[in-house]
Amino acid sequence: MSKTAPRKILVTSALPYANGAIHLGHLLEYIQTDIWVRFQKSRGQQCHYVCADDAHGTAIMLRAEQEGITPEALIERVSRDHQEDFSRFGVAFDNYHSTHSVENREFSELIYRRLRDKGHIATRDIEQMFDPVKGLFLADRFIKGTCPKCQTPDQYGDNCEACGATYTPAELIDPVSAISGATPEVRSSAHYFFKLPDFADFLQRWINDGHVQPQIRNKLMEWFESGFNEWDISRDAPYFGFEIPDAPGKYFYVWLDAPIGYLASFKNLCDREGLDFDSYWQPGSDAEVYHFIGKDIVYFHALFWPAMLHGAGLRTPTAVNCHGFVTVDGAKMSKSRGTFIKAATYAEYLNPEYLRYYFAAKLTSGVDDLDLNLNDFAARVNSDLVGKVVNIASRCAGFINKLGGGKLSTHCSEPQMLARFIAAGDAIAEDFEVREFGRAMRRVMELADEANTYIAEQEPWVLAKQPGREQDVVDICSVGINLFRQLMVYLAPVVPAMAEQARQFLALDSLDWHSRHDIMFDHEINKFKALMTRVERDRIDAMIEASKEDLVEEQKLKDAPKGPLADDPIAAEIGFEDFMKVDLRIARIAKANYVEGADKLLQLTLDLGGETRNVFSGIRSAYAPEALEGRLTVMVANLAPRKMRFGLSEGMVLASANEAGIYLLSPDTGAEPGQRVT
Ligand code: 2FM
Ligand code: ZN
Repeated sequence: MSKTAPRKILVTSALPYANGAIHLGHLLEYIQTDIWVRFQKSRGQQCHYVCADDAHGTAIMLRAEQEGITPEALIERVSRDHQEDFSRFGVAFDNYHSTHSVENREFSELIYRRLRDKGHIATRDIEQMFDPVKGLFLADRFIKGTCPKCQTPDQYGDNCEACGATYTPAELIDPVSAISGATPEVRSSAHYFFKLPDFADFLQRWINDGHVQPQIRNKLMEWFESGFNEWDISRDAPYFGFEIPDAPGKYFYVWLDAPIGYLASFKNLCDREGLDFDSYWQPGSDAEVYHFIGKDIVYFHALFWPAMLHGAGLRTPTAVNCHGFVTVDGAKMSKSRGTFIKAATYAEYLNPEYLRYYFAAKLTSGVDDLDLNLNDFAARVNSDLVGKVVNIASRCAGFINKLGGGKLSTHCSEPQMLARFIAAGDAIAEDFEVREFGRAMRRVMELADEANTYIAEQEPWVLAKQPGREQDVVDICSVGINLFRQLMVYLAPVVPAMAEQARQFLALDSLDWHSRHDIMFDHEINKFKALMTRVERDRIDAMIEASKEDLVEEQKLKDAPKGPLADDPIAAEIGFEDFMKVDLRIARIAKANYVEGADKLLQLTLDLGGETRNVFSGIRSAYAPEALEGRLTVMVANLAPRKMRFGLSEGMVLASANEAGIYLLSPDTGAEPGQRVT
């Protein structure tokens, strides 16, 4: 039999901004992409999945300044947090890089130079609002003022939330800079433009050539009819980004180097793994390139990006796959309702694979929004994954152990049913391939229903009580376990952690797509352990409450003074005597425990060199108890004891916090528990 060579596939998800946490809205895309990638890998394709943090721009520069740290320190911290979130949700990139990287600078400069040399870059002066206090040109969203139509105060620079009017910042009444509060001035400066209209014919062909979904094609054609403008790709200093090679003081706009980050991340992977970058990106390449994105950033990916690549003599994407937005219980995610749920908060309360399954069960290849209905979420996961799939294994495993000595039968009593389950893999594969994941999940659950019906009709539990029928029971349950294996092959791209546990239970080397052809005969399986527990509604409610608390914490951070570069002082000045009243001591964390019923707290037993203290500290989101035991920190030892719901808290450990995390203070090595800190 001749084997076809594996396809060479490069896949990307949009690069998240390096100044905020990953939330459920982001996760839809990463989960969708990851499922598709895992499916391709399961089928034996040579598939690479790369991503990076989108690290440049004014917002990141200002955020770092507000925190009193460098942009480099900010993006490094956020990158770590992002990667931790992705890994919790089983999103397995082959490479995670940054747009603030050597590779990205090189590619940005290369593409810019090629475009410039072919005459696709124009320069002209434009007038813009300028903040004379910060010395910054202001994007529209950084200007506020009174709406010129309805007079509502405090509206952003380009549209009014009260009456919906759109206008230019210059039309605002009494405009102010949202950054410094200063009155902006109009100033002129030279800007660099990418001449998108040069590519109108090319783009018209490209859009009509099956590289985007039909709904997206229609939207793009509407834009086409209204005509394209040149795209402003430069920003004036100060800006966190790459300086334009032949233009001192001018920087590439963040959206210019963001998609180039796809190339940079892939190049970084190629260098590490010895892959041939050019064979993926030269025109005429036999590799496939797919970008998964949200529908809000189509303009950048389906117009600017293919035009830039084409203009720079590189190949264009095979397809740009768009998805819709996530709503929760039928409405936009809302911070005050607690439905703006961060990945980390979700993972504290619920199994990430529930969400992977639920998203898969509702995903299509279209761009409609996807509603996370929390009751339906619990019901569907419980009924499908727990009630149908896991149930097959749990019903059969016990009998195989008890009556078959842990071994499956040496023959198959239902070869036709098994053959049907195997054959169904072709249609399911086709669904995965075209991103009709919901359809694939429906097919899998129909098979699960069939398997359960078979077991229910055969009633192995009744036969097990009849002497002499032991082999029949083992035969039936061996069929059940083999069917379960087929289902786990089909579900593995969606619920990889559960599939890994199933693989161990089945004592198999692999659950790859092709492995479903091997039927397990006379095969020893391991003891069954619950593969997934039910979703409990009270965990969902607790997650919503915690998300509301996240908002309170965020607000506190926003309101708090922001470190050395902030203008406002931290607190009123105090005298030395007052400072000396605070008894700061080195403490050794002797024990740390979770606190039942408190999602944010850890209970710490602190050793002060002889004396011990019981302290409840709100650091649970950042530390596992075992990671703290033995560690030194600093505590306020003379804080009046505070009675809490969980017990008496006798002091306080010192930590700093920002939106991204909590950081416990540590003394240098050599400090001893009980020592005074001054
Ligand atoms: O919209 C966003 O979140 C952007 N950071 C996506 C960039 S995708 C790519 F172009 F880099
Ligand atoms: Zn208005």
